[in-house]
Amino acid sequence: MSVLVAGGAGYIGSHAVKALRSAGHEVVIYDDLSAGHRSVAERADAALEIGDIRDGARLADVIRAHRVTAVMHFAALLSVGDSVTDPAGYYDTNVTGAISVLRAMARAGVRQFVFSSSAATFGHPLETPITEDHPQLPINAYGETKLAVERALPHFERAYGIRWMALRYFNAAGADPDGRLGEDHQPELHVIPRAIDAALGRGEFAIYGDDYETPDGTCLRDYVHVTDLASAHVLALDSLGAGGPSAAYNLGNGRPVSVREVVAAVEHVTGRPVLRSVAPRRPGDPAVLFASSDRIKRALGWKPSYEALEVIVETAFRWREAHPGGYQA
Ligand code: UFG
Repeated sequence: MSVLVAGGAGYIGSHAVKALRSAGHEVVIYDDLSAGHRSVAERADAALEIGDIRDGARLADVIRAHRVTAVMHFAALLSVGDSVTDPAGYYDTNVTGAISVLRAMARAGVRQFVFSSSAATFGHPLETPITEDHPQLPINAYGETKLAVERALPHFERAYGIRWMALRYFNAAGADPDGRLGEDHQPELHVIPRAIDAALGRGEFAIYGDDYETPDGTCLRDYVHVTDLASAHVLALDSLGAGGPSAAYNLGNGRPVSVREVVAAVEHVTGRPVLRSVAPRRPGDPAVLFASSDRIKRALGWKPSYEALEVIVETAFRWREAHPGGYQA
């Protein structure tokens, strides 16, 4: 297939690009490089077209020029906190942007779409593990934007014949085991790279709240390796390519891990202490989030290869140690 990967120069998108290339697909990355990195194209062996997802004419040109037959859509703003203060920006990029991509697909007759969704569409869990049938009640604008696109998809399928997969990631983490790709967010907000930075002597790590109703008082999350997320995208695309039905799937390892356990794993992997303090809770953080991924395992045969927390942390550490300035160094 010839796959347009919107946001393919970013963290999860870049790993998906690499997996698609390994599976023999042609790939064109479509990215405005506002958060993505130019060198990803070469590192992941793909073409790069620079453009904004809201630019329908540019999308049409790129789809035509590369004879695109499927789209993976990663391009989005991703900070829950920023989405609370800037909902206009989040709706514009995440909803208007996704609709623009879908419209360009409809016009060009491209009928396969894989969408980056999020555990944030569930809000505070009513029960765990979270299955696909759990009510989706987002508690912030970020989660709302992801849910809005999920809800649009069946309508686009009915009207334009676009079959789709919505993959709801829990906590994406780790880096390409070959060391060519990794996480490079500016600023970096995620817990594992931040704890690694503290182990590397780059500042102090703040634990956001230790008074939750959890075994050690810190939040529980479900960390899933970015390469395993990438392989799920390839399976999702293969299924659509084979005429399989549209579906939404949760993607996690199904194991709740506390912030303190992350810190312990970072200390173990790096052999260095993590300088830390306890800070107040971060507003909007659910105490516990973890997935049931049984459905995608059954339906598509997804099988994570890097489940162990230590392996996730180790790949993240190798990348971050080698790239203190992200892709710049
Ligand atoms: N945390 C700290 N200190 C830090 C950073 C994070 O204690 O410096 C804690 C958070 O409070 C949370 C856990 O570590 O309990 C994980 O936080 P992250 O920021 O790494 O990830 P989130 O769970 O907040 O967010 C991730 C994605 C979002 C997505 C969300 C739900 O980054 O895009 O999962 O799917 F919306």
